[in-house]
Amino acid sequence: MLPNIAVCVLLSAAACHGATIPLPAYGAHQDGAAPRPAVGSDLVGAAPPPTKKPGYVRLPVSRHYFNGSSGWKWGWHWSPPPGFPSGPLGGPGGGPGGGQNGPIPGPWPTGSPFQPTIPGWPPIPGQTGFPSPPSFSPWPDQTDRRWGWQHLEDLGGIAYILQLDIGTPPQKIKVFIDTGSYELWVNPRCNTSADATLCQSYGNYFPNKSNSSSFVGGDFAVTYGTGAVKGSYWSDIMSIAMFQIPAVQFAVANDSNYTFSGILGLGYSYPYSINYPSVLDLMVSQKLISAPIFSLGLGGDQDGFSEIIFGGINRWKFAGPLEPVAIWPPISQQDPNWIQYWVNVTSVGMTKSGQAPVIYTPRDTFTMPTLIDTGSTLSYIREDLVAQIGQQFQATVDAAGNYIVDCAWRNNTGPGTVDFGFNRGRMVISVRYKDFVYQQYPGHCMLGVQPADVGSTNYVLGDTFIRGAYLVFDQQSDVVWMNQYYNCGDGVVSVGQTTRDTQYVVGAC
Ligand SMILES: *[C@@H]1O[C@H](CO)[C@@H](O)[C@H](O)[C@H]1NC(C)=O
Ligand SMILES: *[C@@H]1O[C@H](CO)[C@@H](O)[C@H](O)[C@H]1NC(C)=O
Ligand SMILES: *[C@@H]1O[C@H](CO)[C@@H](O)[C@H](O)[C@H]1NC(C)=O
Ligand SMILES: *[C@@H]1O[C@H](CO)[C@@H](O)[C@H](O)[C@H]1NC(C)=O
Ligand SMILES: *[C@@H]1O[C@H](CO)[C@@H](O)[C@H](O)[C@H]1NC(C)=O
Ligand SMILES: *[C@@H]1O[C@H](CO)[C@@H](O)[C@H](O)[C@H]1NC(C)=O
Ligand SMILES: *[C@@H]1O[C@H](CO)[C@@H](O)[C@H](O)[C@H]1NC(C)=O
Ligand SMILES: *[C@@H]1O[C@H](CO)[C@@H](O)[C@H](O)[C@H]1NC(C)=O
Repeated sequence: MLPNIAVCVLLSAAACHGATIPLPAYGAHQDGAAPRPAVGSDLVGAAPPPTKKPGYVRLPVSRHYFNGSSGWKWGWHWSPPPGFPSGPLGGPGGGPGGGQNGPIPGPWPTGSPFQPTIPGWPPIPGQTGFPSPPSFSPWPDQTDRRWGWQHLEDLGGIAYILQLDIGTPPQKIKVFIDTGSYELWVNPRCNTSADATLCQSYGNYFPNKSNSSSFVGGDFAVTYGTGAVKGSYWSDIMSIAMFQIPAVQFAVANDSNYTFSGILGLGYSYPYSINYPSVLDLMVSQKLISAPIFSLGLGGDQDGFSEIIFGGINRWKFAGPLEPVAIWPPISQQDPNWIQYWVNVTSVGMTKSGQAPVIYTPRDTFTMPTLIDTGSTLSYIREDLVAQIGQQFQATVDAAGNYIVDCAWRNNTGPGTVDFGFNRGRMVISVRYKDFVYQQYPGHCMLGVQPADVGSTNYVLGDTFIRGAYLVFDQQSDVVWMNQYYNCGDGVVSVGQTTRDTQYVVGAC
């Protein structure tokens, strides 16, 4: 930790701009172990507490690039399909942990459930201007095309991966980070996965090779649009950064199809969808962090490393204060078995190189409840908005309804951006074309937003949005704090010691 970090907190952001920055030092920090970085309470004058208090746990996130080869498949997503029955606490399967058990949905629908807008951009039938937003109903549509694991060669893309050490001695497992689900599971069956080699490279956990494992039992089952996982629960020591969490419960799969990686779900978990504490909950109860809060700075291809910080915020990844965007519908109004990070998007627009920003949505009335989900490669919003953006990129719509664009947009190094507004314009996240246009495979690129299914309100801001933002997922205050992502250095402060102390953290860029 550079001494100048604490000083910078007290000076204006401008004074800190351009300060010499150390290389990222991954690992964990706990107060008392090293000079304590400034936290929110410092900023309002409180003296640093003398006792050892929770700090933060920081981990690098590796980006794994997949090469796609065919032109029509969707991105992928690792949550259960929409409309999938969710049961009472504990899960309908009766296991201690539950999960979305239930009957496997019917086969993938034949024919496209989606009628694309043909090039030339006629208005959507029956639609003049902007319709009032449909009523909010999560997951009404069994045929949602986003869900499931596809053959890797078909999808391409980028996954964000975290390494965990489980057991004694530690076994190294790589898992996908997913804010759209809420459980940790490991051990996809590689010989029936979409990519056996890749699957094996992510590692497997063998309870019988750990002298600290214990069998919990119960049924774990998740069914995806394509693919499924079954297994049972185990408990073992997990090392995360420099810390050990003694008894982490997680699911160990013994049967799966298509899936090629385990998943670390970081959504709301205990006591909503599961009746045991999640990894995030255990970090709090083990006093590694103060509150169930984590920050994600994925950044774009050219932004250097990606990272996740539990209980802390990297001030050198944004400028100024973070905007609190309330989770909506409120937790109390969501399905208690599946609480997710939904927020209102209040504007969608673009800023073309050298031009003034244009907003495609009614300035004072537009709201679009949208899920923020690292497990989704692409973003999915209303088709009329996708069409407006697509027109600016001279997109064509393929037979499956994808908006296809020239990959040259990714080479556009000018200041053009696609802009997503929150809290009535108090925060606008501008995603550079390079981060927004998604290269499925060399020479084949898709718009970073694609239409949600007809009639569906399952809007998602996936990685094509998240790359442009610094995000703090705050389960203590039911808020996602946001600001534009920049990379101007490195320096982490802890948060969560007092409710909403994130509001005092000022980005240093
Ligand atoms: C993808 O293709 C590029 C070159 O086209 C290659 O360097 C890279 O290793 C490939 N990645 C994977 C995961 O196959
Ligand atoms: C478990 O394994 C570790 C490392 O191999 C060893 O240090 C430890 O003593 C073992 N514990 C027990 C209870 O066997
Ligand atoms: C995959 O491996 C499992 C056990 O390792 C084996 O039982 C199964 O038959 C294999 N499946 C295929 C399709 O090879
Ligand atoms: C551990 O279990 C795996 C299968 O789950 C088995 O293949 C392996 O032989 C077992 N190893 C030991 C040391 O028992
Ligand atoms: C997985 O474990 C369950 C419960 O132990 C067992 O009933 C099932 O046969 C196992 N499946 C496979 C493919 O090994
Ligand atoms: C995977 O597919 C096989 C063959 O279709 C099936 O028997 C098995 O139950 C499936 N596994 C899961 C977890 O759905
Ligand atoms: C989200 O939008 C709805 C209208 O669609 C509005 O009623 C609600 O107050 C908004 N929530 C927040 C937190 O702004
Ligand atoms: C983008 O730039 C790369 C390298 O600078 C080049 O290889 C590629 O052909 C360019 N793509 C397009 C579509 O212009």
